[in-house]
Amino acid sequence: MSDTIKWGVIGCGGIAARRTIPEFKQRVSNAELVSVMDADPARAEAVARQFGIPHWCASEKELLRQPLDAVYIATPLNHHCRQVIAAARAGKHILCEKPMAGTLREADRMDAACRDAGIRFMMGFCMRNNVYHKKARELVQSGALGRMVMGRAELTCWYPPIPGAWRQDIALGRGGALIDMGNHCLDILEWILGSRITEVAGFQDQLVHAYATPVEDTATTLVRFDNGAHGIVDNYFNVPDAAARNSLELYGTKGALIGQGTIGQDPTGNLYSILQPEETGYNAAQVRDVAPQRQDYRLEGIGLYGQMIDTFSRCIREGTEPPVTLADGRHSIALVQAVYQSGRKRKTISVRE
Ligand SMILES: NC(=O)c1ccc[n+]([C@@H]2O[C@H](COP(=O)([O-])OP(=O)(O)OC[C@H]3O[C@@H](n4cnc5c(N)ncnc54)[C@H](O)[C@@H]3O)[C@@H](O)[C@H]2O)c1
Repeated sequence: MSDTIKWGVIGCGGIAARRTIPEFKQRVSNAELVSVMDADPARAEAVARQFGIPHWCASEKELLRQPLDAVYIATPLNHHCRQVIAAARAGKHILCEKPMAGTLREADRMDAACRDAGIRFMMGFCMRNNVYHKKARELVQSGALGRMVMGRAELTCWYPPIPGAWRQDIALGRGGALIDMGNHCLDILEWILGSRITEVAGFQDQLVHAYATPVEDTATTLVRFDNGAHGIVDNYFNVPDAAARNSLELYGTKGALIGQGTIGQDPTGNLYSILQPEETGYNAAQVRDVAPQRQDYRLEGIGLYGQMIDTFSRCIREGTEPPVTLADGRHSIALVQAVYQSGRKRKTISVRE
């Protein structure tokens, strides 16, 4: 294999054309984008022309016949299982967008196909690449916050009814705000805390938008981590974009980390800590001056999606395990399904895989 990993893209709609392909072209040096495919031929051609990609097509078979090392799959959820299996059988390494699949059974078929083909698979949980999330993880795992007590992750946007939108069709998207945005939040909380979620409780409702099918626009989730900490994940399709804070809040016995705007597609946001390493006793007056302890982190953001391509290309070249695995994708499905089950049954659910 040459030093440059040759890539193809399956599905060049929203996220691929808005983030992954531009970042690929701007900042990835160890890989080359040689072909794009979309079910809509005009879209494939337009993207190829816009980004100077030599080959485009509207057929999966044609794309998989190209001399590619890897493919990035960014199609609607209902295509992921079949396309991952086809790409694996064609011997391509695979970077698959979240959610990995609609069911655990699909995930297992994808796993078997990747193992049989001996190819590498990476899950596209790009938000682990935000520089502030990396900082938060480093601080939490170094013990700077003491024993972790609670983590909250919010991701919200305004998403009104749109005719034909696959996310608004329960048969295609398998859910709404939770499966679409909550899976990022659940993943980064587990990753930052270094602890898996074992128990969940969730409310899901369609409060505002009259989608054509019963897809929730409001999802609030409570979780318990294996290390005992609690968590809250909140995802809404019905809060104006300008009002959403996309908050990350992490609390432990020695302090807190507070982020805003880090949970999203931009590699930006801000993060500060309030740390109190020494126990000070009970403050009966409950007067809180946090200014002396507040530390703001000012870090340079790097495109989240280009980093995925860069990292996975390196793993392929060096023959190493990707940092976000198929098992992580499968676990995320189990987690999200447990939260939906909790909503339906109105009780807490243990996460089983
Ligand atoms: N990681 C992130 O931050 C992030 C953000 C947005 C979307 N996503 C994920 O990316 C995937 C795509 O989402 P999107 O918002 O780009 O959707 P989209 O609807 O904007 O784009 C999907 C594209 O896939 C094409 N397509 C449909 N069926 C196809 C098929 N069988 N073969 C090839 N192309 C096909 C469509 O024509 C369209 O161009 C989803 O899994 C979604 O959850 C991830």
